[in-house]
Amino acid sequence: WVTGWKPVNGETVYLRYDTGDPHEIALVRPEDQDPGSMMTVFPFRESERGDEEALIRALRRADNPVMLIRLRPGTPVVLREGQEDFHYGDYYAFSKICTHLGCPTSLYESQTQRILCPCHQSQFIATEYAKPVFGPAARPLPQLPITVNDEGYLVATGDFPEAIGPSFWEIHGS
Ligand code: FES
Repeated sequence: WVTGWKPVNGETVYLRYDTGDPHEIALVRPEDQDPGSMMTVFPFRESERGDEEALIRALRRADNPVMLIRLRPGTPVVLREGQEDFHYGDYYAFSKICTHLGCPTSLYESQTQRILCPCHQSQFIATEYAKPVFGPAARPLPQLPITVNDEGYLVATGDFPEAIGPSFWEIHGS
């Protein structure tokens, strides 16, 4: 259910953010993000970093956008069973693809900790594994397991543990 960047042979999956330059590889360090903010990032594989063609493909690939959220220190959270180690400190990464009909969720409201989808107004609560709290979405936004590697970059440690997007995508094999 994930697309091009799925890690193979244990290689690193970096998170890249968009600087406006489509060729720039801006990798994310924890200090790049302020507490109480959200950043959209795109995973890509280590093997794509040194292969120019693969890199161009990866940079054009806008699939699987991920919402990286840095909570304010001390914010109480409820972790999802089996995903207790998916976050890195105050950093949490969720699929940006709404589980209702697949629109990109676009707004993180740091006062209420809610993630909002503009299409049909679903709301997800970031402090409780992005579970839906309002609107038609019935499933949490899948969480991506992350950590910081030896180089000081935020990286994914694996795949999403469940399908991203609406459940009918999986039924149709997308
Ligand atoms: Fe997000 Fe419908 S697609 S609420």
